[in-house]
Amino acid sequence: MGLELVESPVRSNALTIGQATLEDVNAEQSLRPKSLDEYIGQAKIINNLRIFLKAALRRGEALDHVLLFGPPGLGKTSLAVIVANELGANLKTVHAPAVEKSGDLAAILTNLEEGDVLFIDEIHRLRPQIEEILYPAMEDFQLDLVIGQGTAARTLKLDLPKFTLVGATTRAGMVSAPLRGRFGIVNHLDFYPRKDLEIIVHRSAEILNVEIESSGATELARRARGTPRIANRLLRRVRDYAEVLGDGRISGTIAQKALDSMEVDRFGLDEVDRKLLTTIIEKFDGGPVGVGTIAASISEDRESIEEMIEPYLIQIGFLNRTPRGRICTAAAYKHFGFDPPASQEIQAMAS
Ligand SMILES: Nc1ncnc2c1ncn2[C@@H]1O[C@H](COP(=O)(O)OP(=O)(O)OP(=O)(O)O)[C@@H](O)[C@H]1O
Ligand SMILES: [Mg+2]
Repeated sequence: MGLELVESPVRSNALTIGQATLEDVNAEQSLRPKSLDEYIGQAKIINNLRIFLKAALRRGEALDHVLLFGPPGLGKTSLAVIVANELGANLKTVHAPAVEKSGDLAAILTNLEEGDVLFIDEIHRLRPQIEEILYPAMEDFQLDLVIGQGTAARTLKLDLPKFTLVGATTRAGMVSAPLRGRFGIVNHLDFYPRKDLEIIVHRSAEILNVEIESSGATELARRARGTPRIANRLLRRVRDYAEVLGDGRISGTIAQKALDSMEVDRFGLDEVDRKLLTTIIEKFDGGPVGVGTIAASISEDRESIEEMIEPYLIQIGFLNRTPRGRICTAAAYKHFGFDPPASQEIQAMAS
């Protein structure tokens, strides 16, 4: 039906941006966990899903609709695939921006079979009129078709097979309340702790047939911005270094050298992160400064700042969002070797 998932790859040299590059999309097929047991970390979400899946299977019913929030590369698509696999169901994938007309969604829904999993990626980007079609479909497995126009318009109700909708979004705040309310299972994926990323790196290294020492895995995990996709990407890059400069084995030293020369620092920050933080510090006295102003100063678009750059900087405590704008924390000042901030607001936050 021409509505296959179209990942939108970004700059292929962006090492520490969570969004998928073309190279990632190809490499990820083999690295993607396919079952709950292969999925590393996010224990709370996985444990709950395990129970819900078991109960649905036991009752022979469709699983409740699942909404997945989280920054790019944390494993939302992987979870959608896993949910379908665990249910032994078909997975149909739709990229929300590709759904242009109400008829497109109606066609997708009427083509579903009993028990299918429908995965709508970037669900916050569905148009409002199209989103409304989902409401009765999710709630009552019904499709309301409007036939004719004006006073002659009539609604026809069609029964749909019982299906499970899995929605994914990187923008929690942009999913409308009525849509969100229709999901029975709502999960927020967090950045992964270093330990989990180490396990992911070891698993991927095994699949890719790369020898890696635990010190090497630790180094990669530390600089992966809490993101499995980035950990896998760094692994592929560091493997190149290890093959060219050594015997192919990734030791802690090789990993460190490789990552240093790629200018990924020990917090996983790259050039864009550094530019963003040092611009706020140097040009705006540490903030508060609006995200639009930051975007203009560093020539990045506002959406990628909000979606891909900021979440991690906030998570590691380098940046704060306040109603008056973004503020660099004292920790960021220290990391970049600046004197402690003069601003009272920043100092107050640090204490
Ligand atoms: N929990 C995990 N365990 C092991 N590998 C993982 C896990 N989560 C993600 N990965 C790896 O990271 C890659 C990216 O994950 P995925 O495509 O599921 O992210 P996403 O959240 O859908 O990203 P996007 O928002 O860009 O669509 C996967 O192909 C897989 O290799
Ligand atoms: Mg995805």
